[in-house]
Amino acid sequence: MSEPGTNEQDTNEQGILEQGTSDRYTSQSRRVGDVRAWVNGVRVDATGPSIAAVDHGITVGDGVFETCKVIDGVPFALARHARRVDRSLAGLGLPDADHKMIDAGIKDVLSGEPIAYGRLRYTITGGAGPLGSDRDASPLTYIVTAGRTPPNPVTAKVVVVPWTRNERSATAGLKTTSYAENVVALAYAKDRGGTEAVFANSVGNLCEGTGSNIFVVVDGEILTPDLASGPLAGVTRDLVIEWCREEGLTVRAEPLPMSILTRATEVFITSSIKDVMPVHAIDDQLLPAPGPVTAQVAEIFNRLSRERLDP
Ligand SMILES: Cc1ncc(COP(=O)(O)O)c(C=O)c1O
Repeated sequence: MSEPGTNEQDTNEQGILEQGTSDRYTSQSRRVGDVRAWVNGVRVDATGPSIAAVDHGITVGDGVFETCKVIDGVPFALARHARRVDRSLAGLGLPDADHKMIDAGIKDVLSGEPIAYGRLRYTITGGAGPLGSDRDASPLTYIVTAGRTPPNPVTAKVVVVPWTRNERSATAGLKTTSYAENVVALAYAKDRGGTEAVFANSVGNLCEGTGSNIFVVVDGEILTPDLASGPLAGVTRDLVIEWCREEGLTVRAEPLPMSILTRATEVFITSSIKDVMPVHAIDDQLLPAPGPVTAQVAEIFNRLSRERLDP
């Protein structure tokens, strides 16, 4: 494995390979934009070849990842993301991550021109492996990327999808790279004018979105599905729960029937990139966005997340 750091001979400041790289890769890089990428200690072209064709993350989705918001070059809540990646790796039965490797990759992709508003994503896979689901003892693969993100829409329309999350799945609650069902669900929502899809779980309770957690306001109280209902333990979800309680609001995490969506007077979704995003429509049902409670939650989250960069 190479030493962490930028391979300055081959890459420009965006990390795009300049020499010995075919047009195929450089033209793809332009389409993807200025994503900076680092793999196993080396700065690479984000769209060029950089991991083994038999990497288990690619062949079977045997990997985990984290996405953090970056503002003015500074990533938010890194310690919470690090703890969650450890839980995801343990849940998959993969070895513990070398956090010095992850930190070296983060430092590398965030060096240079500060990213004003963007996303840092790191992925750890089982490494090179057999073509089937079996594993061998290969070292983990570390991939760290960062790039700018377009500004969020101010409010969201969510679309309830016909597929369910399995809250009893072996990977329930783990942030794995097996996200194909999220890709299908988000495309379904976008085809219907949505910003995000929402899943019920296998017993018909509210679960989560493809890349966000969901909260509803009923009788002035803030409710969100409990973790046993199958959602990811979102970093933003956890902070919203903790910080709203700290500021005297009632927040409860419990099983919620899907019918709660028709009783809710306000709905919002949360994620590392979306922060607290008011929902203005669930399918064809319109909602105030932001309603008064959501506005208060967003104010609390925005204020405390500016004050506490690694809460
Ligand atoms: C399935 C899923 N649920 C919820 C979330 C929100 O989690 P976080 O607040 O940690 O970004 C994500 C994040 O991308 C996700 O992928």
